[in-house]
Amino acid sequence: MPLWPSRSEKVKLLQRVALFEGLSSRQLAQVARLVDEVNVAAGKRLAMAGQTGRELFVIVEGRALARTPRGRTVQLGPGQFFGEMSLLDGGPRSATVEASTPMRLLVIGYREFWQLLAESPLIAKQIMRVLSNRLREADAAFSPCS
Ligand code: CMP
Repeated sequence: MPLWPSRSEKVKLLQRVALFEGLSSRQLAQVARLVDEVNVAAGKRLAMAGQTGRELFVIVEGRALARTPRGRTVQLGPGQFFGEMSLLDGGPRSATVEASTPMRLLVIGYREFWQLLAESPLIAKQIMRVLSNRLREADAAFSPCS
């Protein structure tokens, strides 16, 4: 029994994630070379607000909770990703993210992240779309009266 999933098993995981939608089998195989699969227990802290972040996490199974320093909480589930902000702007983590359940994740390091964006405009577009959406939701949740 191999300790790590084979390339084809990773491709199957990637096919379940919206971020990689529209990629050809060849492109998925290339992405599979760049990602690691990690399983974590409930309660595992995956990102810490204020600290430097060096990875992007893509959720295959399970749920996580992101908590911003201002107290906003956002649930994240299968198909969603987190950790992109620090990688994109080099700033500190904007939220603390903890596993609410056992999780199966794909982890993409800093160098591999930029390689993915350079090689796949589709992935870059998906990340920008999600980021815009998160900004809209964060703005909608902000009440100047509270
Ligand atoms: P990053 O700042 O690198 O690390 C914490 C992550 O939590 C952040 O990237 C986003 O992926 C995620 N996150 C932070 N704020 C929100 C939000 N308002 N909505 C959804 N996800 C968020």
